[in-house]
Amino acid sequence: MLGPVILAASRSDRMRRLISAVPVTKQVVDRFIPGETVGEIVPIVKDLTGKGLELTMDVVGEDITSPDQAAAARDAYLQLIEHLGKLNLGTKAEMSVKLSMFGQALEGGHELALANVRPVVEAAAAIGTTVTLDAEDHTTLDSMFAIHEELRKDFPQTGCVIQAYLFRTEDDARRLAAAGSRVRIVKGAYKEPASVAYQDKAEIDKAYVRILKILMEGQGYPMIGSHDPRLISIAQEIGRRAGRKLDEYEFQMLYGIRSDEHLRLAAEGHRMRVYTAYGTDWYGYFMRRLAEKPANLRFFLRSMVSK
Ligand code: FDA
Repeated sequence: MLGPVILAASRSDRMRRLISAVPVTKQVVDRFIPGETVGEIVPIVKDLTGKGLELTMDVVGEDITSPDQAAAARDAYLQLIEHLGKLNLGTKAEMSVKLSMFGQALEGGHELALANVRPVVEAAAAIGTTVTLDAEDHTTLDSMFAIHEELRKDFPQTGCVIQAYLFRTEDDARRLAAAGSRVRIVKGAYKEPASVAYQDKAEIDKAYVRILKILMEGQGYPMIGSHDPRLISIAQEIGRRAGRKLDEYEFQMLYGIRSDEHLRLAAEGHRMRVYTAYGTDWYGYFMRRLAEKPANLRFFLRSMVSK
């Protein structure tokens, strides 16, 4: 029951101010967001890639309120890409972006987000890597998919995310499972109404498996974003039955969650990509991680009390 309450708080400015002001928050945040600046994140990039892991990098931030903030978000990604270029990692370090951080919700937001994300995709391509568009709440998705399609005309390797909890997603998966596409499937992390999304965990898992089959039996490159051990085994089995080799799909997990599993899957020969977030505007990302696992909230509250 706590999850929906925390997700509602994740969109509240008052809660944002309150929680961000608590000094101990930072220690708990660090588990999921291990740096605030490029200088802090580069050693982590080197460490994880040195262990045989691949990365998708996220500069945290979303729901910005002015075109200047959107431009600043674009510039933060460009700065990151410049640093990654010096490490020569190619597709071992790609980017994940949220279009709401590029101005999607502002007036004329669709065009603004496209104009801001395009230079990021171009810069990523110039250093031999790519960008994946994260999926945010359901009201943003038609615009996200249209921007994805537009970007793919020049940069066909641009990826996107689909969310198993939405009723629409099986149709989206069928449309996207075409040759050359890169699609990340996740359960979904936003508070969505019963009119558009399954609310029951078992229903979401069943939908996830149906979508996995569509992606694995399709022509594209599936990226399986989950920490759920059951879904990971099912994905391996569906991949095997679809005749896919281990490098014809990949697993993805979030930094700070089941890190031992990242290494285990990589050691088994799987491509394992760690979603690594950094930056100062961590509130929304952090609150979604709390909502996913109530034990995280208990840990957070305990650390506040024990100070
Ligand atoms: P589930 O929530 O059932 O967790 C399975 C197990 O994993 C738990 O029992 C626990 O052990 C561990 N676990 C999961 N979350 C944890 C947490 N926060 N803290 C500690 N342990 C945890 N969503 C979205 O809407 N749009 C997006 O673009 C993305 N992008 C994305 C990228 C990647 C690489 C991943 C892995 C996930 C996302 N998500 C996302 C988030 C996704 O929708 C979902 O909320 C989380 O992955 C949690 O779901 P699981 O599949 O891990 O299963």
